[in-house]
Order: sequence, then C-alpha cells, then structure tokens
Amino acid sequence: MTALNLSVQLAPGNKRGLLLANPVMTASGTFGYGTEYAEVIDIQRLGAIICKGTTLKPRPGNPQPRLWETAAGVLNSIGMENIGINALIQEKAPLWAKWKVPVIVNILGESIEDYAKLARHLDKVAGISGLEVNISCPNTSAGGMEFGASPKSAAEVTAAVKAKTTLPVIVKLSPNVTNIAEIACAVADAGADAISLINTLKGMAINTASRKPVLGNVSGGLSGPAIKPVALYMVYQVARKVKVPVIGCGGIASANDALEFIMAGASAVQVGTANFTNPCTPLDIIDGIERFMKKGGIRNLSELIGAAL
Ligand SMILES: Cc1cc2nc3c(=O)[nH]c(=O)nc-3n(C[C@H](O)[C@H](O)[C@H](O)COP(=O)(O)O)c2cc1C
Repeated sequence: MTALNLSVQLAPGNKRGLLLANPVMTASGTFGYGTEYAEVIDIQRLGAIICKGTTLKPRPGNPQPRLWETAAGVLNSIGMENIGINALIQEKAPLWAKWKVPVIVNILGESIEDYAKLARHLDKVAGISGLEVNISCPNTSAGGMEFGASPKSAAEVTAAVKAKTTLPVIVKLSPNVTNIAEIACAVADAGADAISLINTLKGMAINTASRKPVLGNVSGGLSGPAIKPVALYMVYQVARKVKVPVIGCGGIASANDALEFIMAGASAVQVGTANFTNPCTPLDIIDGIERFMKKGGIRNLSELIGAAL
C-alpha cells in the first residue's frame, strides 16, 4: 500500500497557507511554548503547536488556587499568565524558527486595538506560522470571551486582525454562547482562514468546609473528557455551516476521540487537558489515526473529514 496521507491545509484561502503534516495539534495553555516538552517527547512529529495565550504586556494571571480537578475534567482560572509579546518575539520565536513543526501563537487583547497591534507585531516574525485569535477566554475581566459572545464583535476582532497580518488567522470560539454556528459564520465572513472550537465551559466548585468557592477567581473554565460531547456537537453544528477549515478541541484523549471530531467535520484537532496526564497523548493519537486508516484501507485523511455530516 502507498504511503498514508495525513496532511491537512488549514488555510487554503491564504497565500502563505498553513500546511500540517498531520492533523494533531496541542491546545493553547496546555503545552507551554513547546520548549518545555522538547526533552520529553518528539515534538517535531506534531501537526502543530499552539503556544500559551499571549498579550501585549506580560501578565501575572489570577490569584491562586487556579486549578481544580473535577469529575472527568479540570477547572482552571489561570487568567492568561504569560511573558508578553516582546519576550515571545525575542526569546521563543528564534527557537521555533529552527523547528520543523509549525508554531501558532494564541493572542488575547483587552480591546480590538490590542488584537490589531498583536497581529501587526507578529506578522513578519520568523518562527511563527499562524495566529489563533482567542475571543473565548472565560478567565479575564476585560477582553477574551466578551468579544466572542456576539457575531458583531467577533467579526470586528477578526477583520481587525486580518487587516494587520499576512499570517493565516484561526479564530477560537467560546462554547458559552447561545448560537455558536451564527458566530462561526460571522467570523468566516470577516475573513478567518480557519475556526477552532471549543474553549472551556464556565463553571465553579465550592469547598463545603470553608463554604467558599475553591478557585481564587470564583469561577473557571471546565476542560477535559467531561466536555467532549458538547464540543463534538458544536464542531458538527459549525462544520455544517462554514466553508473554512474547522479545528476541533475539547476532551480529546484518544485516537477514537480525534476521529469522532474529524468525522464531525474537523480538519484537525487540538489536544489540551490530556497533555497533563500524559504528554505523549498527541503522538499516540497520530499513531492511532494511522492504524485506523491502515486497517480501513484509507489513504487520505480527507476521506474521513466530515464523514458523519
Ligand atoms: C490550564 C489551561 C490553560 C489554558 N489556556 C488557554 C489559553 O491561554 N488560550 C486559549 O485559547 N485557550 C486556553 N485553554 C483552553 C484550551 O486550549 C482548550 O480549548 C480547552 O481546554 C478544551 O480542550 P481540552 O478539553 O482538550 O483541554 C486553556 C486550558 C487549560 C486547561
């Protein structure tokens, strides 16, 4: 049998394109800057790495505690702790420029101008292959989810970013909305090259001994296996409506999980919380998808994308 083709083009409408050797990426905030894992796994085998959410200025994040394990998931209220865009450009991008695996930078602003500035500064930086626009973070008091909550503001951020960059632009949607497909359509119409979903679902936990919320920030974002069926259905709903590539995320921990998302219409997937229990998960998923394809006599991943739609 000829070689399997797992490659995917995530920005077919963009001159620079975003070609991945396989559809398995790491989700923002769960894989640092990639450098932390370079000694642990063969990161160059990944389809792409999405780095930690990045803001114009460095941020210390929210008060502790910021992580809480729940039944089949995790609540986090990290609040975008990060080194800021200047340190990312000076310290991280030069390392990424030497890598085979594409690195995509997840950006977050407190205003539309912030998103535009981030896009402009990152545009010509060697080592950066794309931007993921986070309009879905539930853990910041300004910016993030508030822009992803309405089709109008989601489209405005997308258009502002697109105007300032030649890089492929992925827009990351929030599940904490009434009609995610409507927001996906607005973002696609505003020029997004691809759409990723979902970010975390808002939630909380209470310590019954102290009678107080567990998280320092009161609420947090739920991720992990608990959210997989929600994420899968949202990917299905969005993939039926938009023409741009869709990237699925939410509770993916096995090749079978990833294949469900691909069959629901995702061209690629992101692995998040599962990295905390086993950093080899994304590589195991690539191997598992290959085994599934070999067993079924499937040569091109494209034969599986949207198979359940
Ligand atoms: C600790 C933690 C930090 C995260 N930080 C970010 C972030 O900086 N930017 C972002 O867009 N999403 C962030 N996310 C959301 C994940 O990228 C992903 O969308 C979500 O966790 C669902 O996927 P999962 O269930 O596989 O973890 C974070 C998630 C966790 C658990």
